[in-house]
This record gives sequence, structure tokens and C-alpha cells, in this order.
Amino acid sequence: MACSMVSNMVCGMVHGAGTAAATGMLLDVCDLHTVYPSARGDVRAVRGVSLAVAPREVLGVVGESGCGKSALMLSIMRLLPRPGRIVRGAVRLRGVDLLGLSSGEMRDVRGREIAMVFQDPMTTLNPAYRVGDQISESLQVHRMTPSGASISPPRNACVRSRLWQARRAREEERDYVIELMRRVGIPSPDHRHLEYPHQFSGGMQQRIMIAIALACKPRLLLADEPTTALDVTIQAQVLDLMEDINREMGTAIVIVTHDLALAGDFCDNIAVMYAGQVVEWGPAEAIMEDPLHPYTRGLLLSMPRLGSRQPLRAIPGEVPDLTSVSSGCAFAPRCQQRTDRCEAEEPPLQIASGRMLRCHAVQAEAHNRARFRGCVAR
Ligand SMILES: Nc1ncnc2c1ncn2[C@@H]1O[C@H](COP(=O)(O)OP(=O)(O)OP(=O)(O)O)[C@@H](O)[C@H]1O
Ligand code: SF4
Ligand SMILES: [Mg+2]
Repeated sequence: MACSMVSNMVCGMVHGAGTAAATGMLLDVCDLHTVYPSARGDVRAVRGVSLAVAPREVLGVVGESGCGKSALMLSIMRLLPRPGRIVRGAVRLRGVDLLGLSSGEMRDVRGREIAMVFQDPMTTLNPAYRVGDQISESLQVHRMTPSGASISPPRNACVRSRLWQARRAREEERDYVIELMRRVGIPSPDHRHLEYPHQFSGGMQQRIMIAIALACKPRLLLADEPTTALDVTIQAQVLDLMEDINREMGTAIVIVTHDLALAGDFCDNIAVMYAGQVVEWGPAEAIMEDPLHPYTRGLLLSMPRLGSRQPLRAIPGEVPDLTSVSSGCAFAPRCQQRTDRCEAEEPPLQIASGRMLRCHAVQAEAHNRARFRGCVAR
């Protein structure tokens, strides 16, 4: 099916009639395939992912380790480590295909339009630079002032006036950095902007990463497990902060997490990934209350619940090796509902019960229900 047709269908289904047109979407990922070539063959980390994010939306991407969540985020940012590469598909931001941009054009998009908070802050922050300088760097890269305007020095200004303007710009930038650090909850930012990453705790480093990501007021923030390394109180603070950013600045957020409960509380929509594919995608409330894909059900049953005395039920087996995924449903070896068809034929991403699903059993069930309703009506 044509890429735009899939997008339109998918967006319409998950976001409702008002925002159904893919053109109204902030981000539109269509049939994206990404591989990491390795000695064992190509690791197919992203296998035909289609997703969309509306302006101001918060989307949660969940799934077990190794399902391709980070590979998807890095593909959207075009920051895949070599020799990783995007094989085919489209990533559109406000209708512009990011995969067709030159490296220079893509650099302009990063930071200014989309920013990313990476999984591990300590390997992302530069230990040799003060955190304040690292926060202001993206303003300098994009030649922007803290107010968001582009800097263009006056042509005919004399040297003294230029120096004065440069000093004012530096002061304005420093004040903005201090304000951003205060905004993300770093105590004493007027002193601490001069410190180095190793002088901050893990939670603070994560917040500095968020401050760097927000410096240019991007429209979309990709946060890859921004709270995994943090204790629960700091985790809650970082999530509150992201919620405020979403509400006050209108920044849309894609948050990657292993924690379905967190996604259920925090997100408007959830996309469940398994073996490089989106297997269920729809409104967070519906997915938490009535998960339909056997993998989503398994994830929810394996989730610890406060006060419950029921033993946890882990999903048997493990995520497949992405160098040799079978031709049928990738979840089949772990699925209790599998049939011969599941092993032979890969289920497509289709609409069922108000969401998008990749499962033969769910599709058959939805089809039977529709037929039954037809009989009753007759
Ligand atoms: N640089 C790389 N080179 C080769 N293979 C890679 C590389 N990075 C990731 N992979 C492989 O790609 C697949 C998807 O990895 P990815 O990091 O996207 O998973 P993930 O869902 O983010 O997992 P986690 O929850 O543990 O972060 C895995 O099989 C992984 O081993
Ligand atoms: S397609 Fe078949 S094997 Fe795959 S999740 Fe559905 S029922 Fe299970
Ligand atoms: Mg990851």
C-alpha cells in the first residue's frame, strides 16, 4: 500500500477525525526500515514502522529490550551510529521528508525543530566543557538568540558597537542558560552553570540533557528512557517537568520506556514495539484497559502492581535475533494463540477496535464480531 495511504489511515484511526489528515501531523513516520550490518548479517532493528505524532501530543513507545525503540528514535534524528543505515521509508516533519535533506539542512532541524534526550546522559555530556556552555551551544549552532530570533550582525556597525552587541548577546545567553537550569530544577543555577558534568548527580545530568534539548524550543522532543537510571522521586520530578514543558511550551513528546504503567499515566497514545515493528498503537487509556495484542497483554501481566498478591507472569521465551526474523509473525514462538497461519504469514498493521494492530487472531476476532453484529441487525 502506498506510504501516504498508510499514514492517512493510521493517523485518522489513532488521532480521530479532527486530525486525520497526515498533513496535520507534526511527525509522520511511514514504513521505515533500518538495519545495522554485522558479521552475522544485517540486524533489522526497525522493520516497517509507521507512526504519527500530532502537535502537542505525548506518545509513549514501549517494548522489551532489543525491540528497536532506540533505533527508531535515532533513525528519526538521522543519528544512527555507523554502519547503521535507513534502508527505506519516510520520516516527515510538518510534511518535509527529513530523509531527503542534506546533512547541513538536517543539522538545522536538529535542536531547532526536533531535539533528543539520549538514554545515557554521562556518555552524551562532554566531560571537558562546563554545563552552561553545553546548554548554550545549540543556540550558537543555530545562531539564535534566547528569544528565538536568528542572529544577523548589522553590516555597517562600527567595531565598538559590534563588541558591545556581542557582550550583550553573551550576557543574555548566560541569563537564559541560568533560567533554563532553574526551569529544569537545578539548585543554585547562577553558580552551577560554571560546573562540569562530573559535579552533578545522575538525575541532575538527565535534567541538564533536557535543558540542552529545550534550549532552542523545539516542536518535538524525543526522550529515550529519560528516567531509567533515576530513583523514583527524581523520576517523578523529571516526568512532571516534561509534562509542564508539553503544557506550557506546546512541545510534542515521544517518550521511550520499558514501563507500561508510566506510559499509561503520562501519554495520550502508546505504540507497543516488538522485534522492530509496531504491533499495537492507539489511545493510552484503551490500551491499558483493554490490551488486544497478545504481546501487549503479556507486557501488562508481567507488570508489578501495588498491593497485588498475584504472582507475576513473565512472557515465556525471548525477543528474536533480528538478523534472522522468521517470515511469519515474529511473536509466534512466544504466543499461546498462534496458528499455522501465524507461522507462515506476517500480519500487516491494520485497524481493529479503534487502534492499529498487527495480529491475525485479533483481526479474525474483530471480523467475526462485525459479521455477528451484521446478522443481529438483519
Ligand atoms: N550499533 C549497533 N550495531 C549493531 N547492532 C545494534 C546496534 N545498536 C543496536 N543494535 C541492535 O539493534 C536491535 C535494536 O536495538 P535498540 O537499541 O534499538 O533496542 P531498544 O529497544 O532500544 O532496547 P533497550 O530497551 O535495551 O534500550 C538490537 O538487536 C540491538 O542489538
Ligand atoms: S499473529 Fe498469531 S502469533 Fe502473532 S501475535 Fe497474533 S495470534 Fe500470536
Ligand atoms: Mg534503547
